[in-house]
Amino acid sequence: MRRALVAGNWKMHGTRSSVSELIKGLQQLALPTDVEVAVFPPYLYIEQVLKGLEGKSIAVGAQNCALEPEQGALTGEIAASQLADAGCRLVLVGHSERRQIIGEGDDVVSRKFAAAQSCGLIPVLCIGESREEREAGRTLEVVGRQLGSVIENLGVEVFSRAVVAYEPVWAIGTGLTATPEQAQQVHAAIRAQLAAEDAEVAQGVRLLYGGSVKAANAAELFGMPDIDGGLIGGASLNADEFGAICCAAGS
Ligand code: PGA
Repeated sequence: MRRALVAGNWKMHGTRSSVSELIKGLQQLALPTDVEVAVFPPYLYIEQVLKGLEGKSIAVGAQNCALEPEQGALTGEIAASQLADAGCRLVLVGHSERRQIIGEGDDVVSRKFAAAQSCGLIPVLCIGESREEREAGRTLEVVGRQLGSVIENLGVEVFSRAVVAYEPVWAIGTGLTATPEQAQQVHAAIRAQLAAEDAEVAQGVRLLYGGSVKAANAAELFGMPDIDGGLIGGASLNADEFGAICCAAGS
């Protein structure tokens, strides 16, 4: 049985004071014991969140890491080893905002994935198609290429220590959600692509759905056989809403 995971991606949101409020809200949540919960604050607030959530079983991750795993001369970047040293357990790689706005390509994403794993962090590989790609009927091709690139560069076995998040770009921050059936279809294809290389790895890997998930639609999405939880953006900035989504992932 795969344990559900609900992860909150705070993106570039927060101030010391709003983060402190959010921590207070998270501390008060009664979280289901059969769901793993993680939050991804901006780098600056990671330490504040780790301290504030001490004693609460919520893991902390980062939204990005440098190409190189070890510290060195790379102005403005943060190495995976530094994230691990700070207490992070996971790191997002290949979020669509980084692919589209910063211009990260598949090879860069693979290198960050490898850097994260080499430091003991769990990479959460984000993949997903744009609206144009979906309308052109290219969803499975695009998602297959993004996943295939990591398999090709690093081997399928790396997914025994990783999470995949399917996030259709047209559903991120737009209020438009993939229907549970649309999401399930892509999740099943992702698992099948992994299974073609290694059935055991495919069975074990957690596949999250992301894109306008909220308390009102979470249970339906999480009820699909290949959806093992969610990557939550906007709704993760509200502790009660996030808590309700975590509960929807419980049995
Ligand atoms: P959203 O973002 O829930 O605000 O759509 C999801 C994400 O980008 O991870």
